[in-house]
Amino acid sequence: MEKLVINGGRRLSGRVKISGAKNAVLPIIAATLLGQDAPSRLDEVPALEDVRTIREVLEKLGVKAAFDADKNTFTVDASVIGSSEAPYDLVRRMRASFLIMGPLLARCGRAKISLPGGCAIGTRPIDLHLKGFEALGAKIEIGHGFIEAAAPDGLKGTHIYLDFPSVGATENILMAASMAEGQTVIENPAQEPEIVDLANYLNVMGARIRGAGTNAIKIDGVTKLTGRDYTIIPDRIEAGTYMVAAAMTQGDVRIDNAISEHLKPVIAKLKEAGAHIEEDVDSIHVWADKRMKAVDIKTMPYPGFPTDMQAQFMAMLAISEGTGLVTETVFENRFMHVDELKRMGANIKIDGRTSVVEGVANLTGCQVKATDLRAGAAMVLAGLVADGETQVGYIHHIDRGYDHLVQKLVGLGADIKRVKE
Ligand code: EPZ
Repeated sequence: MEKLVINGGRRLSGRVKISGAKNAVLPIIAATLLGQDAPSRLDEVPALEDVRTIREVLEKLGVKAAFDADKNTFTVDASVIGSSEAPYDLVRRMRASFLIMGPLLARCGRAKISLPGGCAIGTRPIDLHLKGFEALGAKIEIGHGFIEAAAPDGLKGTHIYLDFPSVGATENILMAASMAEGQTVIENPAQEPEIVDLANYLNVMGARIRGAGTNAIKIDGVTKLTGRDYTIIPDRIEAGTYMVAAAMTQGDVRIDNAISEHLKPVIAKLKEAGAHIEEDVDSIHVWADKRMKAVDIKTMPYPGFPTDMQAQFMAMLAISEGTGLVTETVFENRFMHVDELKRMGANIKIDGRTSVVEGVANLTGCQVKATDLRAGAAMVLAGLVADGETQVGYIHHIDRGYDHLVQKLVGLGADIKRVKE
């Protein structure tokens, strides 16, 4: 086990390059299973634990998959899929493994996947995924910890309304429908940029998808998709995390390879808190010369304020001037970072889905832990501004979603290192 040791009090300054988006590359790697006749080569793939895990999943399916973490390229030859079963140990390690169900159903006519467990931030059900597959004509059986889906005569296009704009369900249904017979319409889909990136990749492979990123997606099924080259969009949540770090430390940071269009609510809230932000074509300049003021945030599906930025903002509110309300509407238990921040002296009260954060003048460094990916990022941000030394444990959570975090923060002047427990 390893931990991060941070000495707080340094203003961040300089430039940082954002890596490819974790939440785009995982569904896109699942979608490579649809590519016949030619391999797919993906560029700007971030060096993350989750990317290594999904590569193992593809290998288990008898598919050749190679990841070059130095060149950030991922190649898949899915001309032959040897198995349509994914084992418990891999799905348990990463819920996003469930995203292979749609492609396997479309390509092989069946899929048997271990039921994904819940995780720290919530039960994470998959009912909307299954409702979509059944609407497309698949038979679903659940038993002995596995979900089995079968569509021996292929999938048929249909009209699907999503009760909640679930990102994963939208992605799974999109991939399954891309090879269904006839047209599928998904109403009330997720509209995240990562959905658009997946649809763009599928269309490059020969799919016929219109409307990704809007409130209705139309898919005209095709009989075959071909592996293709594709470059992953930048990670808006990684970018947002460094923007908050610049604001909290009253630093001056230029964030390269960031698409400000994907970060509108984060930019708006940071400006409201008193940060200065300049948006260029593919970079964002963030600087602050005084303590941030408290703001209220309420997480919503895109284009609302992203739930994946909630913990990071709470770390900033913990030392901002005034009281901020943080309302989490997407997940039912995404306040695991509150207790850890309170160990550092934060003044936070949880009232149902809302946390009341009363800013304090400073936090004090101590031993804390990452309870989940974004909570871990929040603890690192808190350590950057705390008095003294902060030690963040369980950093395997952070390794899942942040590419070269320590190197990037050291490059911005932070005093942070990774040490053995
Ligand atoms: C994706 O998770 C992201 N993960 C999450 O990022 C992100 O927080 C989430 O979308 C919301 O933006 C990946 O893309 C790999 P959902 P996903 O399905 O697809 C409920 C991170 O930190 N729901 O939109 O699992 C569910 O319980 C991670 O990078 C159902 O009720 O999110 C939750 O309350 C964390 N039934 C809400 O919808 C379903 O069938 C949002 O879930 C599916 C979901």
